[in-house]
Amino acid sequence: MKRIEISISYCKVEEKELSEEDRALLDAARKATYRSYSPYSGFSVGAAVLLDDGTVVEGSNQENCSYPQGQCAERTALFYAGSRYPDRKILTICIAARGTDGAFTSSPISPCGGCRQVLLESEVRQKTPIGILLCGTDAIYRIDSARDLLPISFDNSYL
Ligand code: THU
Repeated sequence: MKRIEISISYCKVEEKELSEEDRALLDAARKATYRSYSPYSGFSVGAAVLLDDGTVVEGSNQENCSYPQGQCAERTALFYAGSRYPDRKILTICIAARGTDGAFTSSPISPCGGCRQVLLESEVRQKTPIGILLCGTDAIYRIDSARDLLPISFDNSYL
C-alpha cells in the first residue's frame, strides 16, 4: 500500500491586513447576505466575485420550499458571472455569512462540495487560478486556488 499525503496551504489574515480591493470585496459579500432568500435555514450567505476588468458580481443563497432546488451563494455568483461576462476572468471570490441570530459568523465560511466543483470548473475554463477569501469576523482565510479546496478532483480532462 502506498500512502499519499496531500498538503493544503492557506493564509490566515486579519481584516485590517486586507488590501483595499479585498476589503471592498468583503463589504460586497457582506452586503449580499442581506439579499439572501433563506427562510428555511435562516443562514444567509453572500458571495462577491471580482473580475479582471474590476467588475464585482454578487450572489446570495436562494432557497426553495422544495429544498434541493435552492442554490448556494457561490454558485449564484459564479453562474451569473459566467452568463453575464463569459469572456472575463475571475480573480477572486469572497464569501461571508450571517447565522440565525443575524450576526456575521465568527468563523470563516467554507464552500460546500458542489460549489467547490463549480469553482474549479471556472478555474480550469479560464486557465488562471481563482483566489478565495473565506470570511468570518474572527478570522479570514485566503486560499490561492480552487484546486486547494478540491484535491483529487474530477475535471473535464477525464471526458
Ligand atoms: N450555503 C451557501 O450558500 N453556501 C455555502 O457555502 C454553504 C451553504 C447555503 C445553502 C443553504 O441555503 C444554507 O446555506 C444552509 O445550508
